[in-house]
Amino acid sequence: MPTALITGITGQDGSYLTEHLLSLGYAVHGVVRRTSTLERSRLRHLYGDPQIYGRSLILHYADLEDPTSLRRILVKVAPDEVYHLAGQSHVGLSFEIAESTVDSVAMGTLRLLEIIRDLPKPPRFFHAASSEIFGRPAQVPQDEATPMVPVNPYGAAKAFAAGLVRIYREKHGLFLVNGILYNHESPRRGENFVTRKICRAAAAISQGRQEFLQLGDTSAQRDWGDARDYVRGMWLALQHPQPEDFIFATGVLHTVQDVVEAAFSVAGLDWQKYVRRDERLLRSQEPFALVGNAAKAERLLGWRPGKDLQALVRWMVEAEL
Ligand code: GDD
Repeated sequence: MPTALITGITGQDGSYLTEHLLSLGYAVHGVVRRTSTLERSRLRHLYGDPQIYGRSLILHYADLEDPTSLRRILVKVAPDEVYHLAGQSHVGLSFEIAESTVDSVAMGTLRLLEIIRDLPKPPRFFHAASSEIFGRPAQVPQDEATPMVPVNPYGAAKAFAAGLVRIYREKHGLFLVNGILYNHESPRRGENFVTRKICRAAAAISQGRQEFLQLGDTSAQRDWGDARDYVRGMWLALQHPQPEDFIFATGVLHTVQDVVEAAFSVAGLDWQKYVRRDERLLRSQEPFALVGNAAKAERLLGWRPGKDLQALVRWMVEAEL
């Protein structure tokens, strides 16, 4: 039975990746942080199943800020594959909590790489990098060779981490991969990310539980895909014979406004009556035309994402309803 270790297992991607790996016969170990509230809702269906929890799914307490705890788990579990998904992931918030963002995202990755480098049998390692490393890209769409020009602390931290993955891969000959992930969504998306916020609000307004929706820049554009496709890509990237970086993206740009119109139409509402602009939600530095070219992942991994934003939004609104 192959063994995987996932940091960030309680998040959207961690939960879908866990399901995917369990379906492939893996033993899945997850790193969880001790917090005052138990945030395990996305794993509850697995956690509550005695055939799975404690057998093929095992959770361990550790923290990216606590290298001793990480080292202990990596030595004990001796995984074949590590999927590093953890870290503060809200771009707007990274301006408010810059130090802790950089510590978890950048230094957290460095700590894992330093531990892995010392292991007698180093695992294959997937780093969830982000399209935010490109910020103001010189090229549209971006590919694996596009230079990194981040425009916020989160993007800068991801660029640092992605750069180290490349350096450690070359210098130490380790199997380390950056998956450069563009936005990917699902009903399990965190509530403060824009697609989930919109879909939640459309459903709640239609059921009389909310009055209106406040948004920042609705002309902002993103390349949004289905999270389940992206976790499949993570696994495929670690099965490839050589460690290489891969872009995972749909290649299609949409505006936040497109998501608003799609979501309110599924909920049977006229969006113009309910959507308001809130200046406090505007970001000082918006990235520009972040849209990815995933041709390499398609050619080498056979990876192809769904591209239908309407279907994605429908799934999310219906889940809220
Ligand atoms: N969150 C949020 N809330 N975003 C808003 C709002 C709002 O009320 N109104 C407009 N937006 C705009 C943001 O300014 C941004 O341009 C866009 O909606 C998407 O914002 P998010 O959903 O917060 O995602 P993100 O693109 O900043 O970051 C996500 O994707 C990255 C990959 O490209 C996160 O998942 C990152 O962790 C990830 O790396």
